[in-house]
Amino acid sequence: MSKILVTGGAGYIGSHAVKLLLEKKYQVAVVDNLCRGYRQPIAALQKKFGRSSLKFYRADLRNEKEMVKVFTQEKPEAVLHFAALCLVNESVEKPEKYFENNVCGSLNLLKAMILQKTKYLVFSSTCAVYGESKYLPVDEKHPLSPANPYGESKLITEKMISWIGERHGIRQVMLRYFNVSGASSDGTIGDSKKPSQLLIQNAVRGALKIEPFKLVCPKVKTRDGTPVRDYVNVEDLAEAHLKALDYLKRGNQSDIFNLGTGQGSSVLEIIKQVQEITGTKFKINKGKVRKGEYAEVYADIKKAKSKLGWRSKRTIKDSINSLVKWYQKHPNGWDN
Ligand SMILES: NC(=O)c1ccc[n+]([C@@H]2O[C@H](COP(=O)([O-])OP(=O)(O)OC[C@H]3O[C@@H](n4cnc5c(N)ncnc54)[C@H](O)[C@@H]3O)[C@@H](O)[C@H]2O)c1
Repeated sequence: MSKILVTGGAGYIGSHAVKLLLEKKYQVAVVDNLCRGYRQPIAALQKKFGRSSLKFYRADLRNEKEMVKVFTQEKPEAVLHFAALCLVNESVEKPEKYFENNVCGSLNLLKAMILQKTKYLVFSSTCAVYGESKYLPVDEKHPLSPANPYGESKLITEKMISWIGERHGIRQVMLRYFNVSGASSDGTIGDSKKPSQLLIQNAVRGALKIEPFKLVCPKVKTRDGTPVRDYVNVEDLAEAHLKALDYLKRGNQSDIFNLGTGQGSSVLEIIKQVQEITGTKFKINKGKVRKGEYAEVYADIKKAKSKLGWRSKRTIKDSINSLVKWYQKHPNGWDN
């Protein structure tokens, strides 16, 4: 089976993709500098699938020499590129950090791919490239107008990948995820962001009394005054990456796909659902309001359905239940 290199594979979404790749018998090499990721999911997966199926390199994408070394050693057929800094609020405070890590890191990755003649790239992009929606649902032709440096860093990286890929024969799929939620359904892998920026994760932590829940969204013009987002399950997302790889290997051209459910939920609706499913009416404390947020966004998912053959199968209820399972076993997430 071919070798896939996964950047950011020790992080939240990346570790779920690594798990699925291993289940599908791929050989995997993970590159992660552990600035936001953890050794534990890698160790757990190595224990289950064997060290020979999953290699781990603690390396930084900003270090070109390190990247070239890993590629020379591994000679991967394809790359799933998850590694990035992705906190909207932090990106507004420290934009330079986001452009250096997300854009320069991706450039080094591309240079290593060119040298090693790696053919395929699947890039983790985001609906943040669209900014405030001009119409709903948001399709891939929607105007691109990021509202924060995080989204801008992803848009610049998309463009860079596209130009360099075209010149050097690297075919690519950009996956623009909407809001990611859930944990693996067996409760073995999950989210460990500290503090988490993700609403469903935080609401479940509030319900399980792990940490008081804080409402940090601004007041916006929506049906109940709280932001509306499209929450897509992390295992569904992992499946989309395999579909994207398959799509490229079948000889299709580079393309861009939205990954969401096609439906929006407001912050208050999500809180209500978490309270109902867990049977816990937790207190809603007001926290420091986040910067760089917008009112309403949800995805048009027709293109991913028709061209990739992907659709989200898991519901918000499934995501909530998987997170309950995960946090019951790992109240503080990974710690190492
Ligand atoms: N979580 C979401 O809701 C969401 C939504 C849209 C897009 N995305 C994108 O998905 C990807 C994964 O997000 P996540 O939620 O799993 O984040 P995460 O922070 O859990 O994982 C990112 C991983 O990348 C690693 N990393 C960061 N910079 C690195 C560098 N310079 N060198 C090596 N490793 C580095 C981190 O250590 C971490 O393990 C990101 O690219 C993000 O922009 C996430």
